[in-house]
Amino acid sequence: MTTVFLNGAFIPKSEAMISVDDRGFLLGDGLYEVTPFYGGVPFGLDRHLARLARGLEWIRIAYDVESLEAMHRELLTRNGLENAERSMVYMQITRGAAPRTHYFPEGDVTPTIFASAKAWSRPTDEVWNRGFRAITVPDRRWSRVDVKTICLLPNAMAFQAARDVGADDAILVRDGVAIEGAHQNFWGVFGGTAVTHPKTGHILPGITRGVVLEEAHAAGVPVEERPIQVEELIDAEELFFTGTTGEVRPVVEVDGRAVGDGRVGPVTRRLSDLLLARIEATRDAAKAG
Ligand SMILES: Cc1ncc(COP(=O)(O)O)c(C=O)c1O
Repeated sequence: MTTVFLNGAFIPKSEAMISVDDRGFLLGDGLYEVTPFYGGVPFGLDRHLARLARGLEWIRIAYDVESLEAMHRELLTRNGLENAERSMVYMQITRGAAPRTHYFPEGDVTPTIFASAKAWSRPTDEVWNRGFRAITVPDRRWSRVDVKTICLLPNAMAFQAARDVGADDAILVRDGVAIEGAHQNFWGVFGGTAVTHPKTGHILPGITRGVVLEEAHAAGVPVEERPIQVEELIDAEELFFTGTTGEVRPVVEVDGRAVGDGRVGPVTRRLSDLLLARIEATRDAAKAG
């Protein structure tokens, strides 16, 4: 039986009910987070909650995220995932149920908070080593994508466009810049330097992106935060995505053209290894003490 968290209670998923007046349902008025767990140990949960708190403040939903850490852990345990190699908690907070208005409802409206947990797995080494294929599509999202809104229709349409042509993911292009993926941050390697878009309102400041940047700096891998022009993609030595469930994901083909020599490159491999080592060290430290 799957147990979910809804408004303070852990209940069977089949019993979870949300009002048809919920502003998340009617207006997409809410935010979400996906936090990974490795062997039952959260990775970057504090950063996910901090990003959520920043977003909630910006859209003016008053909710104290402090209690959510314990909720995440308990939800994992209640679903028997405390020893799963890889699992995740999906959580969303909406403004709550209120008569439908475009302005924020006046008076006390209790936010709706929902979370569920599940196991996930990394692609096999064979699949990862073969690499993934992407296409470029126009970025049709709003201009504050640093806020992790549940309004994911443009992301879903971009991802579907990739699926429609048998590709694995989409690279969103805005004003000639290859911004990020439909659900992951995007990187290129040029002259041995790993490049990713700077933190602006045009990208979601990925937790994985931040960790990979830290690890690259610490290991002396050259990195640069600057926009990647779409015309540059043809000259890229390597391309890859980063994200919670994608980890480091190599891209070996864009719009039907091979990236570099068409194989997963050394910088992608190095950064992937560094991320996995950081995850392992975090898990081992938590287990040890
Ligand atoms: C548009 C977008 N970019 C980047 C990311 C990666 O963020 P994170 O590393 O925190 O999973 C996500 C994750 O959902 C995303 O939706």
